[in-house]
Amino acid sequence: MREVTLTDLFLHPITQKFMQRSGVAHALEVTNHAFHLAFKYNVSVDMATKAALLHDIGHYEWYRQGKWDYELYRENDIHAIKGAERAHKLLIRLGENPRIAKQISVAILLHTDSYLPESDIKRSPLQKVVKLADEMDEEQGGNHHYKEIDKLTALKKIQKLDQLVDQYLPKQQLHLNTHEKTI
Ligand SMILES: [Fe+2]
Repeated sequence: MREVTLTDLFLHPITQKFMQRSGVAHALEVTNHAFHLAFKYNVSVDMATKAALLHDIGHYEWYRQGKWDYELYRENDIHAIKGAERAHKLLIRLGENPRIAKQISVAILLHTDSYLPESDIKRSPLQKVVKLADEMDEEQGGNHHYKEIDKLTALKKIQKLDQLVDQYLPKQQLHLNTHEKTI
């Protein structure tokens, strides 16, 4: 049984507040991609989906005269750092296993290269899954952040994903011995 579900995370006021900035529809698409990629990369569907759902909650609002200024954002953004910290705090507050909370947080930290000095990062399978899932939903000029979804539809999708995670996680755990081993 999981300590924290996607629904718990999604309904929390912190998530509701910060997910609006980067787009709930985008977060859900990425979570869905991460669920499927988790099998390919042999990582926990629980961690992959949680990291994906929360990956962009570190966004600031880069508005200039009422519109998101993408140039300003590219230049000054550190959303992966902020999101990693925010997600970790939220997960721990909700009672997540600290080892899992750390893995999720680091996967969020490394989901983009945009703020990093040039370097060759060797990502773990979980970190790769979150980055790839995000890139699968990326549109030019940051348009993926503007797609809309109403809250009830979003909640239904999250609940469906929770059911799928609950269904497949025990099978993964059997296969991989323990949840921790899937990190
Ligand atoms: Fe994203």
